[in-house]
Amino acid sequence: MNAEVTTAEAPAAAAAVADAPENDTAPAEERAAGHGAGAAPAPAPKETLLAVEDVSLAFGGVKALQNVSFDIAKGEIRAIIGPNGAGKTSMLNVINGFYHPQEGRIAFKGQLRRRMRPHFAAAQGIARTFQNVALFRGMTTLDNIMTGRALKMRRGILWQALHWGPARREELEHREFVEHVIDFLEIEHIRKTPVGRLPYGLQKRVELGRALAMEPDLLLLDEPMAGMNLEEKEDMSRFIIDVNEQFGTTIALIEHDMGVVMDLSDRVVVLDHGEKIADGTPEEVQADRRVIDAYLGVPND
Ligand SMILES: Nc1ncnc2c1ncn2[C@@H]1O[C@H](COP(=O)(O)OP(=O)(O)O)[C@@H](O)[C@H]1O
Ligand SMILES: [Mg+2]
Repeated sequence: MNAEVTTAEAPAAAAAVADAPENDTAPAEERAAGHGAGAAPAPAPKETLLAVEDVSLAFGGVKALQNVSFDIAKGEIRAIIGPNGAGKTSMLNVINGFYHPQEGRIAFKGQLRRRMRPHFAAAQGIARTFQNVALFRGMTTLDNIMTGRALKMRRGILWQALHWGPARREELEHREFVEHVIDFLEIEHIRKTPVGRLPYGLQKRVELGRALAMEPDLLLLDEPMAGMNLEEKEDMSRFIIDVNEQFGTTIALIEHDMGVVMDLSDRVVVLDHGEKIADGTPEEVQADRRVIDAYLGVPND
C-alpha cells in the first residue's frame, strides 16, 4: 500500500512537500491535528493543506454533518469512508463551496474562509469529480477536458481580439497541457469521441481528465470507482496513484471498496450518521470497533 507510494517514488513525493521539513511541526498543524477526537495522530507531521474544524451542516431536520474536524496534509491521499448517508458527499460539497455549513470553519492553504462559492474553490485550486458522472455528453473527450482548462484562460474576448498573436500563443499552451493530460490518462484513441458514447469506466477517466486540466492543488474524488469492473478499478487506482506522484496533487477520495482504500490512502477519516467516528491509517481504522460496527449495521454496504 503506502510503502509503494512513498518509497518507490520518494523523490517526487518529497518534492511536493519540499518546503516543509518532515519533523518541523507548525503551530497551525498541531491545532488541526489535535481535533481528531479519539483518533490516532498522523504518522509524520506534514504541512496542512486543508483543515476542517467543527463543521456542522443540516438540511432541515437532517443533520448531514455534526462537529466534524479533520485535516488533509499536502501531498497525501486522504480517504473519506462510511456507510451510505454518512455525510461523505456533503463533506466534499462543503470543502468546495457547494454547501455552506451552519457551524465551523474551513482553512485552505492556511487561509480561513467562511463562505465560498464553487468557482472560488476552483480558482483557489480545488477540483472535483462527481458520484454520478457530470460531463457534456454530446461533446468530445478533448472538448470536455478543455472546459476544465477554461478557468486558466484569464483573458477575455476583447483582449484576445486586440492581441491576436499572444492570444493564439496562450491557447496553444492550454491545448498543449490538455494533450499532456490526455496522454497521461491514455485516452488518445477517444479524444474525438462524444463522451456519451463511451463506456462508463472511460467516462470516469475523462471526468478525471477534466479535473486534472485545472491543475488543482487539491483533487476531490467522489466514488471514482463506483460501478466499475475489476479491471477498470485497477486502472483507476493506478491513475490516482500516478496523479498523486507525478503531478504532486493532494487527493481526497470517497470510496466504498475497502481493498481500494487500503491500497491507495495514507490516512482515512470515517464518518457515520454525520459524525466522525475514526481517523487514522488504513490499518488503524480497519481494526477500530466503532468502524466495524458502523459497517455491520448497514445491510447494503
Ligand atoms: N441537498 C440535500 N438536501 C437534503 N438532504 C440532503 C442533501 N444532501 C444530502 N442530504 C442528506 O444528508 C445525509 C448525508 O448525505 P450524503 O452526504 O449524500 O451521504 P453519503 O455521500 O455519505 O452517502 C443524508 O441523510 C442525505 O439524505
Ligand atoms: Mg455520496
